Amino acid sequence: MIWLRLTVLVTLLSACTHAIVTSERQPAQSLEYRSCQPIQEQMIQVRAVDFGRLEKNFKNVKDNVFKNHCASCHFGPDAYKPQLDDYTAALEYVDLNSPEKSRLLQSVEKGTMPPSYPLTNRDRAAVAFLRAWVLDGAQR
Ligand code: HEC
Repeated sequence: MIWLRLTVLVTLLSACTHAIVTSERQPAQSLEYRSCQPIQEQMIQVRAVDFGRLEKNFKNVKDNVFKNHCASCHFGPDAYKPQLDDYTAALEYVDLNSPEKSRLLQSVEKGTMPPSYPLTNRDRAAVAFLRAWVLDGAQR
């Protein structure tokens, strides 16, 4: 009798384990996967910018670098300085005599801006475009 009970117990247990394993194998139904999706889509959008075709000017830097990574803190007159949607304000953080040392470039390349993640890991092309624009004289 004990053997029969044990067999039933083992069968039930393995059925449960199987159910758990199978449900874990279906990522489309897991909450974690669904909450990741918008972030992934956003990252794909950011990656889709073809910087090679963009002219190096402030509008393109603003719309394709700052807007994606800096806007939440640096756009608008009440935001943290530098106000990156304003050419004159942004230029105060560019050193035209030694562009390499510009705070605008340094803060990004050293990974202090954006504060939450190093942009060099997230969007290398955007950093390269920012660098090219600054070194080219930060044209309007
Ligand atoms: C989550 C908010 C946030 C984001 C996003 C952000 N910054 Fe900042 N940034 C700050 C804060 C806060 C300061 C400090 C402001 C102060 O001290 O007045 C700052 C300061 C700066 C400074 C001046 C300080 C320095 O290092 O010389 C620069 C330049 C700068 N940010 C560039 C950027 C750029 C470029 C991006 C986007 C690639 C960016 N930031 C994204 C919050 C942010």
